[in-house]
Amino acid sequence: MLNKQQVMALLRSIVDPTLNKTLTETNGVRNIQAEKNSEHISLRIAIGKINTPEQKKMEEEIVNKLKRVGSATVDIHFEQFSDKELEGLQANVNEPSSLLNGKLDTKFISIASGKGGVGKSTVTVNIAVALARLGKKVGIIDADIYGFSVPDMMGITERPTLKGNRIIPVEAHDVQIISMGFFVEDNEPVIWRGPRLGKMLRSFFVEVEWGELDYLLLDLPPGTGDMALSVHQMIPSSKEIIVTTPHPTAAFVASRAGKMALNTNHEIIGVVENMAYFESQLTGEKEYVFGKGGGETLANEINAPLIAQIPLSQPSAYPNQHGSVYPEIHPIGQIYQRIAEQVLTNES
Ligand SMILES: Nc1ncnc2c1ncn2[C@@H]1O[C@H](COP(=O)(O)OP(=O)(O)OP(=O)(O)O)[C@@H](O)[C@H]1O
Ligand SMILES: [Mg+2]
Repeated sequence: MLNKQQVMALLRSIVDPTLNKTLTETNGVRNIQAEKNSEHISLRIAIGKINTPEQKKMEEEIVNKLKRVGSATVDIHFEQFSDKELEGLQANVNEPSSLLNGKLDTKFISIASGKGGVGKSTVTVNIAVALARLGKKVGIIDADIYGFSVPDMMGITERPTLKGNRIIPVEAHDVQIISMGFFVEDNEPVIWRGPRLGKMLRSFFVEVEWGELDYLLLDLPPGTGDMALSVHQMIPSSKEIIVTTPHPTAAFVASRAGKMALNTNHEIIGVVENMAYFESQLTGEKEYVFGKGGGETLANEINAPLIAQIPLSQPSAYPNQHGSVYPEIHPIGQIYQRIAEQVLTNES
């Protein structure tokens, strides 16, 4: 015959259907009484929602389980967790989907550079859009908290909404976006330091309702400073794309970013050389206005492939262009599609 511990053991794997957690996880078994040598068992069980068809099924499952091991009668009293208890349990329910505990299949790609103004943000938004065009579910965290620019580049004017206490990212070009720019008034400068910034960044991962993403791109702050480093350390694992201009000095500085990535065990997908040359629309001739060879030098130095050379362009050249996103038919849009394809093959 069964003692209380044995009854408890049998109930352990029963799942609370509304909370989608086992009774062990919810601590839902409140009382077990076993009478007449466990022939008669009464239970008091707390669940997420009472009087539902799911409760009925759960009841049947428990009764059958106990009868199979010899109980003649099983009596179950269901009660509902209090709102406060539910809040605590829901918080736990959200935990498994957190981007930072590595339980999701989302792949992180950080876009880094040695110095500012080389086109990191432009490259981030365009690779994100290109991946979305290939049918992937994509998000961007604009991790450049001081120098956020992604909302503007994506042509976003709205702000995120809240669902309960979760932040819903803003969608543009089929990409989900979160940025510090959404939380400051009228482009005010951000004057926070250290811990507060770290907290903000963390909340971009854990308090934002990302849904199931295939890729999450991070537009890193320029350089190898504290902020870039804390992003590197915060995420469980990330691949990286390093952006540089063709100037040898820029490439030299970028190699530090590359080495930081390697030091934090981030695999480098490759180097993107941006503003690589200017191509005359009249003659088709290429002019290397910012020098030549920086991308290749960097790629060799950090032992990663040079995955693209993006020419200089006049941003407003295309009528359908919003912000800094190149249309798919634009020659530069085509280069970004090829980068996205390389990102996909890098996974397989
Ligand atoms: N291939 C290109 N041709 C012409 N202009 C470009 C190109 N790539 C980027 N730009 C422009 O150069 C400027 C800097 O680019 P972007 O903001 O993407 O660089 P960044 O590395 O993110 O800069 P920051 O370090 O300030 O974050 C922007 O005005 C952008 O529109
Ligand atoms: Mg930027």
